[in-house]
Amino acid sequence: MTKDTSNQMWGGRFAAGPDAIMEAINASIGFDQRMAAQDIAGSRAHAAMLAKTGILTDTDAEAIREGLLTVLSEIESGSFEFSTALEDIHMNVEARLKDLIGEPAGRLHTGRSRNDQVATDFKLWVRDQIDAAISGIEALIRAFVAQAEVGADWVMPGFTHLQTAQPVTWGHHMMAYVEMFGRDLSRFKDARVRMNESPLGAAALAGTSFPIDREMTAAALGFDRPAANSLDAVADRDFALEFLSAASICAMHLSRFAEELVIWSSAQFRFVTLSDRFSTGSSIMPQKKNPDAAELIRAKIGRIFGANTALLMVMKGLPLTYSKDMQEDKEQVFDAADNLMLALAAMEGMVKDMTANRESLEAAAGSGFSTATDLADWLVRALNMPFRDAHHVTGSLVAMAESKNCDLPDLTLEDMQSVHAEITDDVFGVLGVHNSVSSRMSYGGTAPQRVREQITAWREKLS
Ligand code: ARG
Repeated sequence: MTKDTSNQMWGGRFAAGPDAIMEAINASIGFDQRMAAQDIAGSRAHAAMLAKTGILTDTDAEAIREGLLTVLSEIESGSFEFSTALEDIHMNVEARLKDLIGEPAGRLHTGRSRNDQVATDFKLWVRDQIDAAISGIEALIRAFVAQAEVGADWVMPGFTHLQTAQPVTWGHHMMAYVEMFGRDLSRFKDARVRMNESPLGAAALAGTSFPIDREMTAAALGFDRPAANSLDAVADRDFALEFLSAASICAMHLSRFAEELVIWSSAQFRFVTLSDRFSTGSSIMPQKKNPDAAELIRAKIGRIFGANTALLMVMKGLPLTYSKDMQEDKEQVFDAADNLMLALAAMEGMVKDMTANRESLEAAAGSGFSTATDLADWLVRALNMPFRDAHHVTGSLVAMAESKNCDLPDLTLEDMQSVHAEITDDVFGVLGVHNSVSSRMSYGGTAPQRVREQITAWREKLS
């Protein structure tokens, strides 16, 4: 007989219920209730399989099916009362099922354990998040492609060390992010393929003596196949770690563009104007328009990295198979997923709404002697100078321009010839920023024609 104070799921072995502190440290219902829909889907698949294999009667399976649907609607409508004493979502659902349908509820747990159940629920949950991340990233990529299309041939400074390096096109810069987020997309897609094996039916760790059909439950839950080793099936959290690491890299990409937006929207740069919809004002300085969304993305990213590290720390050194440590997997993943989806959506909104300021970009493109490399390349091509010597001559010309407080195209031919006598008038043809970018026709280069090819290729990929 189950004693009143002890647990209704395993009370038979216990004389006393848990201390309040034990209950507090043990319970996961505060957070794992987010997996209610997955838990019920898993139970429905399991019950249908138990009936099909003759382990359960059709009558019991039908009572379970209907009861589970009621539980689901109670949870969805918010009328369900979660109990900490019942520890987690699995036991909360089963206990409520028992209230609703009585004895058949107790037969649902035949041939399974909470170990394979939680692995299944969590995998289904993570899989949904992978799908959400994939569509969020696709939407963001579309926003970058649209920006690239608007300014495929607009010039801007390209930076290394945040110092003006060479002129590039706005379209090229936007398409760099398309490549980055394109890799994120493929990482999430890869992870999805690898993780899509069903733990259900691994039971506690060793499998079960009941004649279950794991192929059937796997198919019902959209898995490609059942996981091949029952020990691995209950001990594995790679799918969550792969989600977090793909999320971390994606988040790192988000933070880099967030940082660029913070810099670019400043009065000193004025490369972009962020929309009012994604900016905030200041309560004291009336002129202020702050890039808060970009700053928050930049900051929130840390939580995702933290979750990745935290789950690695939880899993590190755990002997096979399930250990209760693993209950600490969920909050990290939930928080990381929430923040990733929010950051993706906010970034998409900002990119969609932002206006690139063509004039500011172009004015900045020519500053900082950005066409010095074009000048050196001209010396190599026109005068057959070794590149190292051309670099040196150009360096002297830059120093001269700097001392005259002018840009390279403002030097006179005499100025140029005082440094190297063979320089001709032709050199001025390569000092303009538009010449500079359209000359960079190498594959993957910044020439508008190359950028437009990339835009077309991505439009096709996305359609
Ligand atoms: N709440 C647990 C978790 O999230 C479910 C699995 C419990 N299994 C066990 N053997 N105690 O990991």
